[in-house]
Amino acid sequence: MPRRQKMRSTCLQGGVYYEPRSGRPFRFLDTEPEQGAHVTPKTDITERAVEVDRDALMEVARRSLSAKPRSFLRWAGSKRALLPQIVEALPANFGVYREPFLGSGALFFLLRPERAALSDACSDLVQAFEAVRDDVGAVLRYLEPLKPDKETFYSVRGNRSRGRIRHAAEFIYLNKTCWNGLYRVNSDGEFNVPYGAPKTEFIADPANLRACSKALRAPGVSLNTSHFTDALADVSPGDLVFLDPPYVTGHNNNGFIDYNEKLFSWADQERAAECAIKAAQAGAHVIVTNAFHQAVLDLYPGFEMRPLVRHSTLASSASARREVTEAVLWHPGS
Ligand SMILES: C[S@@+](CC[C@H](N)C(=O)[O-])C[C@H]1O[C@@H](n2cnc3c(N)ncnc32)[C@H](O)[C@@H]1O
Repeated sequence: MPRRQKMRSTCLQGGVYYEPRSGRPFRFLDTEPEQGAHVTPKTDITERAVEVDRDALMEVARRSLSAKPRSFLRWAGSKRALLPQIVEALPANFGVYREPFLGSGALFFLLRPERAALSDACSDLVQAFEAVRDDVGAVLRYLEPLKPDKETFYSVRGNRSRGRIRHAAEFIYLNKTCWNGLYRVNSDGEFNVPYGAPKTEFIADPANLRACSKALRAPGVSLNTSHFTDALADVSPGDLVFLDPPYVTGHNNNGFIDYNEKLFSWADQERAAECAIKAAQAGAHVIVTNAFHQAVLDLYPGFEMRPLVRHSTLASSASARREVTEAVLWHPGS
């Protein structure tokens, strides 16, 4: 019997109270409120696959600004606003969740899988995830006195701490207070994005950060700093691979390109597509998000495709802040 159904009849499992009618979990008052997992261990087909409850995921995806856990970072190209459309491309069940372009991990935090291989080429980013996983209490303590004003921003930016957890807390602080959540370093590897004059005092929601920590502490979840090709070396049949590379179209100036092309070349884009095709051939369900551009779509023969449209806040000029068109492509694996 699926776990959620079972919980409806028992109501109390592992300190979590399950609301009998909806089957949604509530925590007791002395613990933080938390979203229920909507991927449920499945025992009837594959021993360790999880079943996707698409309706429940859709409901959470639609209120992605308040759901817990949700991304604790602002990140260029975050898929948070597109989650409802990505949910439609999910398989009915999957084994290991693989996300080699982690960024702020919007889809990971929505799915909260028990087994996941998460990675990104940005070591500062991965270290922030590791710190939240390993010592969320200390991250919150370091964040607490940091106010989002210009003076504090430049003081933190110019005097980065050596300690692993404090450095990660500073990364989160700078991410939330810099211009548009952009991440950029100079030739010495120092973060050099200017102050962003945030409209809110809010750096971190403690309950959310704790929920993120819990999701990352699942015993089957790994975090690595790596290039996407290394991260996809051991894909197995039934895995779910989510590829969300930086967008590069080569010639269509859609506002993403100027800063991305240096970081992620067209050759990288072709390699990412090769990895996607190989993963699908290995029997994984593959989902890709990318620019809605013919040259990009041509890299994914045999994939289903649906266009996605949203407003871009990343471009610096008002005229370039027009709508940028993206696409979701998926393949059920063969
Ligand atoms: C579009 S963002 C991913 C956004 C993420 N899906 C989210 O919801 O926040 C692309 C990510 O790819 C990472 N990246 C760029 N080049 C990479 C490479 N060669 N290998 C692995 N990750 C890379 C960047 O650091 C960035 O975090």
